[in-house]
Amino acid sequence: MPGSTPPVPSADPPPDTLTQLLRQRESVMVYDREHVIPAADLRAILEAARWAPSAGNSQPWGFIVGRRGDETHRKIVQVLSAANQAWAPAASVIIITLHQVATDFDHEIAYSDYAMFDLGQAVAHITVQARSMGLQVRQFGGFDHRAANEAFEVPPHWAATTGIALGLPATHGEEASLPGWVQQRSRLPRERLPLEAFVHSGSFGHAADFLAER
Ligand SMILES: Cc1cc2nc3c(=O)[nH]c(=O)nc-3n(C[C@H](O)[C@H](O)[C@H](O)COP(=O)(O)O)c2cc1C
Repeated sequence: MPGSTPPVPSADPPPDTLTQLLRQRESVMVYDREHVIPAADLRAILEAARWAPSAGNSQPWGFIVGRRGDETHRKIVQVLSAANQAWAPAASVIIITLHQVATDFDHEIAYSDYAMFDLGQAVAHITVQARSMGLQVRQFGGFDHRAANEAFEVPPHWAATTGIALGLPATHGEEASLPGWVQQRSRLPRERLPLEAFVHSGSFGHAADFLAER
């Protein structure tokens, strides 16, 4: 709104009105580098994505999954930005997410304008399922997308989209072995815009009236 003060993000903790799973979720940067995820647990986490809703049930998502120590994990680490290489390899799993970007005429799966939205929703399900199992996730965009598409022979109607580091948050002082900037960043307060900044009624930019009710 013209002349109004821009909303300031606040560093309050998540309110207790949130379900515990969401309250306790945070984008963790420091992981237990010994933790090995059982295949059944990893499968359960990916089932959460599988059961996410999508436009026309198109399910336009894909996941390239590397477990620490395997070849896929090694190849993913190679394409990460230098900054993400500093912390992500310690997570027990790194995933490259994909969404469908064009119709696959061979298989007649129609491309949907909502594909990236649907992928995001599937990833949100992953974060919550992981949290329910005592694990945390940090998503990232910092990797060479073209190199990832090449390294994993992604067909042209799909595209590497984001990365997910998934693992057990560190509990044994692993932080000390990370570069100072990672330690600092991992301790930054979590900031959020107030609801009034993005929940509207009447017209865009008008904070929803019910927010003022107590
Ligand atoms: C699409 C996306 C891209 C991101 N890219 C990076 C990244 O490249 N490196 C990184 O350390 N964190 C990255 N993040 C993590 C965000 O910085 C983090 O989720 C945000 O600061 C909120 O943290 P919180 O959920 O703990 O409050 C990304 C998150 C998302 C959803």
